[in-house]
Amino acid sequence: MSDPYRPRYHFTPPRGWMNDPNGPIHWCGRYHLFYQHNPDQTVWGNLHWGHAVSDDLVRWQHMPVALGIPDDDLHRHGVWSGCCVADDDGSAAILYSTHDPSTVCLARSTDDDLRTWTRHADNPVILGLPEAARPSDIFRDPYCWRERGEWRMAIGAGSWDSNGAALLFRSHDLQKWEYLGRLGEGPEEGGETEWRGVWECPLFWKIDDTYVLIVSSLDIRSDPPRARVLAMTGSYDGIRFEPRVRERLDYGDAFYAPNVLHTENGRHIVWAWLRECRSEDVGEQLVWAGCLTLPRVLHLDRDGRVVMAAAPEVEQLRTFTQTWEPGVGELAAWLKARAGVSLEIELTWHGGRSGPRGLAVCAAEDGSEETRIVHDPDRGLLLIDRSDSRAGETPSVHSQTVSAPLATRADSPLELRIFLDQSVLEVFTGTTACLSTRIYPAHTSSIGLRLIGASEQVKAVSIHEMAAI
Ligand code: FRU
Repeated sequence: MSDPYRPRYHFTPPRGWMNDPNGPIHWCGRYHLFYQHNPDQTVWGNLHWGHAVSDDLVRWQHMPVALGIPDDDLHRHGVWSGCCVADDDGSAAILYSTHDPSTVCLARSTDDDLRTWTRHADNPVILGLPEAARPSDIFRDPYCWRERGEWRMAIGAGSWDSNGAALLFRSHDLQKWEYLGRLGEGPEEGGETEWRGVWECPLFWKIDDTYVLIVSSLDIRSDPPRARVLAMTGSYDGIRFEPRVRERLDYGDAFYAPNVLHTENGRHIVWAWLRECRSEDVGEQLVWAGCLTLPRVLHLDRDGRVVMAAAPEVEQLRTFTQTWEPGVGELAAWLKARAGVSLEIELTWHGGRSGPRGLAVCAAEDGSEETRIVHDPDRGLLLIDRSDSRAGETPSVHSQTVSAPLATRADSPLELRIFLDQSVLEVFTGTTACLSTRIYPAHTSSIGLRLIGASEQVKAVSIHEMAAI
């Protein structure tokens, strides 16, 4: 039986569980992506590095597992997140973490297709947290880059009862590492709780003269634990990063642990894990769990804030496009005739609004379920309201509304770009307001689209059917 929740044009593991994307790299003319993968079950644990390869960043071919779990004490919790870099000796190098003991380990490949990996004979290359960086509870997720002829590495750290940090190291050979200090850290205890949490999966690079530090912050003191991705931009003196701007990267509840590919033509392409928004006991009955966002191009706006948009490569997946403009007919009827659950939808409104405006997707004919994507200008919010996404009682499926600040002048035009792919929703606005989440309608017949707000204000709508990858 086909699975109505399995995305068709977003990356999913062939079977089993996935979480973080790991080590994206362009190698011998192709794109490689690795990911945290439990091939045997649809729950977290038993973590391998899954592997996929692509020529175009959107269509992926599954490859055999790149890093399995050696039968030793070091790897008893599996092979955790890390990065992949091209070394000067012509090899590709993966630096990954282990947990309990917390270490960084090294593996190398010289294959054109990165199939076979040889672990460094003297693993781990870093064992435990340096004395100078204590106290800290976590220490994981190396991210490496070249700087002034050396290798640098940022590692996620922090204490569950205080704040998060990214630790900075340097090396000449990816094997011997020297601790340099704290690259960045979260607010002190008692500071803004919004920013509280240990830092996982740091990413750090420069766009023009501005440095970008992205961390996945996990706060287990909130109930339920809060996992959110923070984007900071600012300056860097070679040891210390000073943020000028701090914001969330994506305000949805499914988005976590992004990773980045820096392309030769200077683009920064981000993927993140889109977790399931249903409980793991539902997951036990599944064939797969977890998927990735579309590739997103990340850039800075004039205020140094991080803005993401779907990579232009995604447009290759459009198979059939229909456009509504004033004159084409009545919009509500036009939308009604264009139902679907594997679509890209572009919606533009004129300025001069009155109230909330948006689109309901996955709407049932009888109104029993729908998911509302709404811009509420009075509250300055972009919302995905899931309170009616699933008819009936299903406590294990998330139904909270997710929202992102989107302050516009009362008369500003608005552009929404919505990617709906079975259970995946990604919404972009061309600004920092970006939302991704998951929905699980009860009925496969709930495929309708319904305009929210007055149709006179709508300037144009394009609906693209999307190819499966
Ligand atoms: C983030 C994370 C990383 C860790 C990995 C383990 O989701 O917790 O910190 O390396 O997942 O799967």
